[in-house]
Amino acid sequence: MGESLYPVPAQWAANALVDEAGYNAMHARSVEDPEGFWGEHGLRLDWIKPYSTVKQTSYHKEDFGIRWFADGTLNLCANALDRHLATRGDQVAILWEPDSPTDAERRITYRELHEDVCRLANVLKAQGVQKGDRVTLYLPMVPEAAVAMLACARIGAIHSIVFAGFSPEALAGRIDDCGSRIVLTCDEGLRGGKKVPLKANVDAAMDHAPGVECVIVLKRTGADVPMVEGRDIDWHTATAAASTDCPPEEMNAEDPLFILYTSGSTGKPKGVLHTTGGYAVWASMTHQYVFDYRPGQIYWCAADVGWVTGHSYVVYGPLINGGTTVMFEGVPNYPDPSRFWQVVDKFKVEIFYGAPTALRALMREGDDWVKKTSRSSLRLLGSVGEPINPEAWEWYHKVVGENRCPIVDTWWQTETGGAMITPLPGATALKPGSASKPFFGVQPLLLDNDGKVMEGAGEGCLVIADSWPGQMRGVWGDEERFFNTYFTTFAGYYFTGDGCRRDEDGYYWITGRIDDVINVSGHRMGTAEIESALVAHAKVAEAAVVGMPHEIKGQGIYAYVTCNADVEPTEALRKELVQWVRHEIGPIATPDVIQFAPGLPKTRSGKIMRRILRKIAENDVSSLGDTSTLADPSVVDHLVENRPALA
Ligand code: PRX
Repeated sequence: MGESLYPVPAQWAANALVDEAGYNAMHARSVEDPEGFWGEHGLRLDWIKPYSTVKQTSYHKEDFGIRWFADGTLNLCANALDRHLATRGDQVAILWEPDSPTDAERRITYRELHEDVCRLANVLKAQGVQKGDRVTLYLPMVPEAAVAMLACARIGAIHSIVFAGFSPEALAGRIDDCGSRIVLTCDEGLRGGKKVPLKANVDAAMDHAPGVECVIVLKRTGADVPMVEGRDIDWHTATAAASTDCPPEEMNAEDPLFILYTSGSTGKPKGVLHTTGGYAVWASMTHQYVFDYRPGQIYWCAADVGWVTGHSYVVYGPLINGGTTVMFEGVPNYPDPSRFWQVVDKFKVEIFYGAPTALRALMREGDDWVKKTSRSSLRLLGSVGEPINPEAWEWYHKVVGENRCPIVDTWWQTETGGAMITPLPGATALKPGSASKPFFGVQPLLLDNDGKVMEGAGEGCLVIADSWPGQMRGVWGDEERFFNTYFTTFAGYYFTGDGCRRDEDGYYWITGRIDDVINVSGHRMGTAEIESALVAHAKVAEAAVVGMPHEIKGQGIYAYVTCNADVEPTEALRKELVQWVRHEIGPIATPDVIQFAPGLPKTRSGKIMRRILRKIAENDVSSLGDTSTLADPSVVDHLVENRPALA
């Protein structure tokens, strides 16, 4: 099959921040002389005390450590807001589009945002929040979510955002793990016309998060939510009474900025920790170069602030760069599948950054929904979160972008802080489905199963050879887990957990996770997390979860469940288990298939053979491989014969 190649359009090559030669020169320097390169690019931020050291990093056990700009001090909120006030105080910083197109948008200038942030920061301080304290945010896509992040950054508190689609149980686990005493939420969220009971969820979480002393509640829908005397505070009343003067705290470059929980291959989500200086350099620099961003351009990243993409590319990157960032509360298909493109027209969006799963869902609705809008303002498109299949890529390019807009397919992870492998629109010829080339400072390598570095074209495990400023600095509360998870699989390298192919032109093609993590609609789920939710049900003895191909979601969730001996596996139980998982984790973890299994394929030492379960889930039963080492090979035949027909 021939691959298409889309050369860099001439006007992009001529006008972009970097062209191909510029990229090659900058990338070469960034890896040959990281000290010099990042020493210069670190100056994109305003430092209170300039750094005298740049890179102090080692992936080796003896002297393991990751520190960037370690003796510099700065405040990230001041970099995102205060420094723009003199030149762009009246420019719109956040352009907010509500869930319903009939409600009014909000346009918040840098000056207004600065005031709102200072007020909330003072409210937090009045509640006793100090530098280093953790603050949990459980908020929908409203501007106040950004206000809350920036208010924390202003006073040196560490924010931990929990995606507003997570259940009370999942919320409680995350509050408890980082020891937040304070939670910011709102009465109800609104998504696709449906209300999400956020305050009620917080109340329900309190049974398992006894340390919470204060809940600050924003009004969104105006629902009459019960307030707990002495614990709950009304956001509007408190901020209206607070001062707009709040000097930013002087933070060390390596002071923590935020924790964001993400799934790994073990049961418990881990709190990925990012610090201040390196993260800010990475988020802002990647935002500038990947999107060829110029201050004031209307830019829209359609991710939720509950995920890392929302942190780096809705809030921090664009605001540090003096941008106008669109925040969208709703969903792509409400009230109809034209919604994204109508918002593009309404705000004259120039740069749109979205997820393949949304594009696939919209593609299925037909081109008319797109074509009835103008989209003439669009000049650049982006993709993130999962591999984009060439078919969706071509549709995005041809129908949405009318063959005019380059597509930047950005590969990265919660752990990496920002884009790692990505085209630059003025520099990189595009191949649909390939994230293409490494960003400055990134040295991807492919290793074979023996850990040997592969040269030239081939497919292997993707690792990164050296540190980059935006790299995570730790797992909250578990120093060893950080080192063990990322630096022991292949000693001396950062292990991404992804498989990858490199072609003859040096382009990288991510093939998907090679660990027990699945990617459902661009959301990362640990199979172990879903398994522990299932076995927590009284009727379940054992469960094994694997990914399966899914046309829209990329991957779906396929669960094999063994019931307790006295339990009849009925259709009603199947439904009950689906609801149970939604209740334990949240709707994003809804199993697509539950297959009742009297037994699971295990080795004689009791290890579940997931390879076989994956094949059955993929309906690829002709090549199950050697099953003779199983304790009971007949369970495989039973699973194959009873595989449920998929809708
Ligand atoms: O498997 C890769 C996939 O998403 C994983 C990271 O998930 P998360 O930490 O939730 O971050 C998502 C937002 C960056 C990766 O290990 N992934 C992400 N972007 C891409 C991708 N796979 C292929 N192409 C991408 N552009």
